[in-house]
Amino acid sequence: MNTIDDVKLIEFPKIFDSLGNLVVIENNKDIPFEMKRIFFIYDSDTSVVRGKHANRNSSFCLINVCGKSKVKVIDLNGDEKIITLDRPYIGVYLPPMIWKDMYEFSDDSILLVLSDQLYDESEYIRDFSDYR
Ligand code: TYD
Repeated sequence: MNTIDDVKLIEFPKIFDSLGNLVVIENNKDIPFEMKRIFFIYDSDTSVVRGKHANRNSSFCLINVCGKSKVKVIDLNGDEKIITLDRPYIGVYLPPMIWKDMYEFSDDSILLVLSDQLYDESEYIRDFSDYR
């Protein structure tokens, strides 16, 4: 069973030079899975709470490539932690069966999400009591 101890911050390789900054993410090297899906969230109001689900099979890596947001993760032991994402070269890895809420999006927030699974609504658990 995955717990919040399996939720890890990842610092990606970055090439910073006079031309600007470049960040690299390679499958099975910089993230512990093979990407099958990418989506991103922007224009979410600061009062909005997104996520509010766990996934039976999907792993994710969340990166605020612009701006800032917070992620609260909860596991089946009831343990939780809050991660602030505010640097484009830092991601948070979320394994399956971790409850997640994303919130406090800055006006300029672009939250990039990488996943190892194609979208399948049947593997989303959207009711917290079902999750518990
Ligand atoms: P949802 O998973 O609730 O987004 P968030 O976790 O950011 O709050 O998804 C919102 C809507 O978008 C929902 O109707 C499902 C749909 N959706 C897709 O069709 N494909 C996808 O890959 C994702 C992530 C969501």
